[in-house]
Amino acid sequence: MDVRKALCRVEDVPDGGATAVRVDTSTGGFDLILVRSGDRVAAFHNECPHAGRRLDYAPGKFLIDGDTLICAAHGAVFGLGSGQCLGGPCRGDALRSVPVAVIDGQVCLP
Ligand code: FES
Repeated sequence: MDVRKALCRVEDVPDGGATAVRVDTSTGGFDLILVRSGDRVAAFHNECPHAGRRLDYAPGKFLIDGDTLICAAHGAVFGLGSGQCLGGPCRGDALRSVPVAVIDGQVCLP
């Protein structure tokens, strides 16, 4: 039985940008940021390590500046592909990454 969970198609994530998806689970679910660079997609929990807020300014809309993603709440700056804190109030705390795979053009949780 295939237990992978498809989140969206790769084309649904802007190349060089990000989008948000909701993952429903039996315990209430969680929200992810999907970040794309070409055929590669990385995922992070959509929860800022500074004060626990979502990072998007509107659902699925993120502040992207070059290779950085900026939290819309208080301006913490993260590496777009790495999730590492690069400046601002995150004070060294990275976004929590989640493993995803691209399979047949779909972004999937393993
Ligand atoms: S919650 Fe993200 S910078 Fe404060």
